[in-house]
Amino acid sequence: MNILILGSGGREHAFAKKLVESKKMTKLFVAPGNAGTARIANNILIDPTDFPAVKKAVLENQIQMVVVGPEAPLVEGVHDFFLADESLKDIPVIGPKKDGAELEGSKDFSKKFMFKHGVPTAKYQAFTKETLTEGQMFLETLNPPFVLKADGLAAGKGVLIIDNLQEAKEELADMLTNEKFGAASSKVVIEEFLDGIELSVFVLTDGKGYKVLPSAKDYKRIGEGDVGLNTGGMGAISPVPFADADFIQKVEERVVKPTVEGLQQDGIDYRGFIFIGLMNIGGDPYVIEYNVRMGDPETEAVLPRITSDLLDLFEGVATQTLASKSYEVDPRTATTVVVVAGGYPEAYEKGHFITGTENEEESIVYHAGTTMKEGKIVSNGGRVLAVTSFGEDINSALEKSYRTIDKISFEKMNFRKDIGFDLI
Ligand code: AMP
Ligand code: GLY
Repeated sequence: MNILILGSGGREHAFAKKLVESKKMTKLFVAPGNAGTARIANNILIDPTDFPAVKKAVLENQIQMVVVGPEAPLVEGVHDFFLADESLKDIPVIGPKKDGAELEGSKDFSKKFMFKHGVPTAKYQAFTKETLTEGQMFLETLNPPFVLKADGLAAGKGVLIIDNLQEAKEELADMLTNEKFGAASSKVVIEEFLDGIELSVFVLTDGKGYKVLPSAKDYKRIGEGDVGLNTGGMGAISPVPFADADFIQKVEERVVKPTVEGLQQDGIDYRGFIFIGLMNIGGDPYVIEYNVRMGDPETEAVLPRITSDLLDLFEGVATQTLASKSYEVDPRTATTVVVVAGGYPEAYEKGHFITGTENEEESIVYHAGTTMKEGKIVSNGGRVLAVTSFGEDINSALEKSYRTIDKISFEKMNFRKDIGFDLI
């Protein structure tokens, strides 16, 4: 089978590595990909949200399945585009259509969905410019800290958690009337603060059946001890030790089943991943958010643990036979440490030569923001590499990732040396 992966990060390199292991794989393409995917697949230098360019690439290369990495093509309707096109409509797309992608594309939509289908989540109300005063009055009824969320996609930056009531009222006004986060904050969700420990659970569904994939915890802040600015993610651990069988059972019963059944009831034919951001509050799961894709860097810790053929699972999604597919997981711990460009997540430099990525004796070195220049690997993004290792426990896996990173070098590289610190 010829496959096209859309995207260019560590997540997509992890998909690529897993898919090339499949006996069913013929030719693999990644658009646009990175220096890591270039070694094991064919990169096609197009923008994944340029659907006519995607169509051309699919037809030219006899692609038989498309796997969508990031949310943007999904929210913009790449799956719907395929279904509406005579020459593409029979090519399966792994990733929901626009209606399902609203679970990530609109916080208001996802909160309404959760309440309608009885999925545990924080209480909330949504406000627009016209209802700013009501929004400020609603804030007065809540206890701090106050959680304000831009309704639309804001590149992971649209959530504010504020201790002071006056400041929260001003931020609400800033979001609604000045469009602080662009059109994404023309509607704002205000919700109750959930006090617990965060983790993520991933689900693959064909719209009828599902597989609950391994849990993971990511480390979003740039600084050690979880301080400083938010990033795309600086590391991940899978599985999450406190997410034991009992907890995962609760997640499946209270969250996964009502979510998959709710999508069916609402007439949303969802084929793809659901990334469930959870808060564990005293052993009970509450949903913080849905994403309609896998996480990055969580994928780099979760996918290597799946020992079954990923392409076989994707075929199950495409043909709605996922329930009958075999699915097995390596019980060991996987740890991922992300190596970033100095300065990230603020302004950073690109184009630095990278050495040492071939040292994969103890780890898998996934490429994220890398590209080839004059035959050499150079940095091309904020998050540059993601180094994953296995171990019997978190510490033994981390030691390997850090040893591998010691052999990697590029100007001003940076990484957190405390991934998993709260779990050990
Ligand atoms: P989101 O984009 O919805 O995932 O929110 C970003 C981050 O804000 C989450 O990963 C949480 O750490 C935090 N957060 C979001 N909603 C809440 C909430 N209701 N209570 C506490 N923390 C939250
Ligand atoms: N690491 C968080 C995300 O992919 O959204």
